[in-house]
Amino acid sequence: MTIQEYNSSDIKNILPLLLLGDESVEMIRRYIFTGRIFAGYVGSSIVAVCVTIELADGRIEVKNLAVAPEMQRKGIGRAMLNHVESVFPGKRFCLGTGETPSTLRFYHACGYRYSHRIENFFVDNYPHPIIEDGIRLKDMLYLEKESSYCLPYSQD
Ligand SMILES: CC(C)(COP(=O)(O)OP(=O)(O)OC[C@H]1O[C@@H](n2cnc3c(N)ncnc32)[C@H](O)[C@@H]1OP(=O)(O)O)[C@@H](O)C(=O)NCCC(=O)NCCS
Repeated sequence: MTIQEYNSSDIKNILPLLLLGDESVEMIRRYIFTGRIFAGYVGSSIVAVCVTIELADGRIEVKNLAVAPEMQRKGIGRAMLNHVESVFPGKRFCLGTGETPSTLRFYHACGYRYSHRIENFFVDNYPHPIIEDGIRLKDMLYLEKESSYCLPYSQD
């Protein structure tokens, strides 16, 4: 897989993937034009996307991450996170996600740890119930990670 930055003027092409990571078009609209979009390609097909924004305090928030269903559990999600972490060396990363056991296991395997939760986020902000792995999402869990990529050593 190769990973390249993707231009937000051509969102239609990656919308099905974005909707896998965040099922609300309205929510996606709030960050897609200010964020940086990374696309994972196998040949000419886009098999994964990741969207990041830089927060006012300097942290990088992963707003969306998705791998095409037929390509999951092949290391692609981990490779996408590794790539964005290398783009922002030395930064602290954060993300919000539902309390879905498989997703939490994935982020845990990638070094993300629990920070805090926003109670009832999915109940209050989405027009209909979101069910993942048979569980209705309720709270938004925030996870954090120090980037494992260090800034290059400077002799100044
Ligand atoms: C979550 C998601 C991005 C993971 O990407 P992926 O390419 O399937 O994950 P990887 O193959 O890189 O997994 C890395 C490690 O995470 C853990 N992991 C990944 N998926 C898992 C699952 N379903 N259950 C348990 N552990 C899992 C494993 O430890 C895995 O390593 P291993 O395969 O060597 O055991 C992908 O499943 C996805 O796009 N899901 C739908 C959208 C979504 O939920 N996005 C995140 C919400 S913001």
